[in-house]
Amino acid sequence: MIEVKNLSHKYSGNSDYSVKDISFGIKQGEIFGFLGPSGAGKSTVQKILTGLLKLQNGSVKIDGKDVTSAGTDFFEKIGVSFELPNIYEKLTGYENLKFYAGLFRSKTFDPYEVLEWVDLKDAAGKKAGDYSKGMKQRLIFARAIINDPEILFLDEPLSGLDPTTAQKLKKIIIDFRSRGKTIFLTTHNMFVADELCDNVAFINTGEIISMDSPKNLKLKYGNHSLKIEYTDGEKTKTDIFFLEKSEDKEQFKNIVDKNKIITVHSGEATLEEIFIKITGRRLS
Ligand SMILES: Nc1ncnc2c1ncn2[C@@H]1O[C@H](COP(=O)(O)OP(=O)(O)OP(=O)(O)O)[C@@H](O)[C@H]1O
Ligand SMILES: [Mg+2]
Repeated sequence: MIEVKNLSHKYSGNSDYSVKDISFGIKQGEIFGFLGPSGAGKSTVQKILTGLLKLQNGSVKIDGKDVTSAGTDFFEKIGVSFELPNIYEKLTGYENLKFYAGLFRSKTFDPYEVLEWVDLKDAAGKKAGDYSKGMKQRLIFARAIINDPEILFLDEPLSGLDPTTAQKLKKIIIDFRSRGKTIFLTTHNMFVADELCDNVAFINTGEIISMDSPKNLKLKYGNHSLKIEYTDGEKTKTDIFFLEKSEDKEQFKNIVDKNKIITVHSGEATLEEIFIKITGRRLS
């Protein structure tokens, strides 16, 4: 459904590339997660895929067509949510959706119905400018799905939402997938990725450093992790080891021999731990 080859992007005025020669494919009916820390290049990639940023290097094909030649048909069948709320503050939540729905030739959902899904029905008549941050974010999400899009691009859709609301939005995303829709989702939350995504790409400083299903990533890097906190002379350090790996076993033994151990925690490896192991960076 989405095919990206050798994509690079450099913003004018910057000396370095924000996206460096990345390639990936997304099948129809798949939730694909783009994961990485702040500044990794996630939003830049989403903006290129949705035609918001001009393609500089590489190719992006969506449903077999080059994104550079995207026309009305393309915009009819996609839904996009942005990380920063860009809504009409003077219009009510309902009016925002009604206005947006009017831009489509194809059939859209009833704005009230969608507001109910995202738990905003009671606030339908309130000015969007007076919405809280989380409410604005839900309105942006509602707007992204109003045209029942074939492909949904979601930039950090759940960040900052309370667990109950986040759960509701996750359910909507899963329902979309079950109806054969394709979802591209960026996040720096590994739990969200693990729970929702069929495949994930780890992105760090503009490069994809690993890509697979969450299950396979765990099989590849280790299913069980051991996190130890220890003092190395003055400093307290934390390290993560995957004991399926012989080099990790060696390092672990070394640390236990030479340092004072404070805590040891073992458990099922999380994607976050794997990401830290590969990049040395935390996600947030
Ligand atoms: N309009 C812009 N002009 C110049 N540089 C930019 C612009 N937008 C983003 N960048 C740079 O490109 C890099 C990637 O930014 P991007 O917004 O894609 O990251 P991100 O992964 O979405 O981060 P976050 O998790 O904080 O949203 C960063 O170094 C950022 O400073
Ligand atoms: Mg971003």
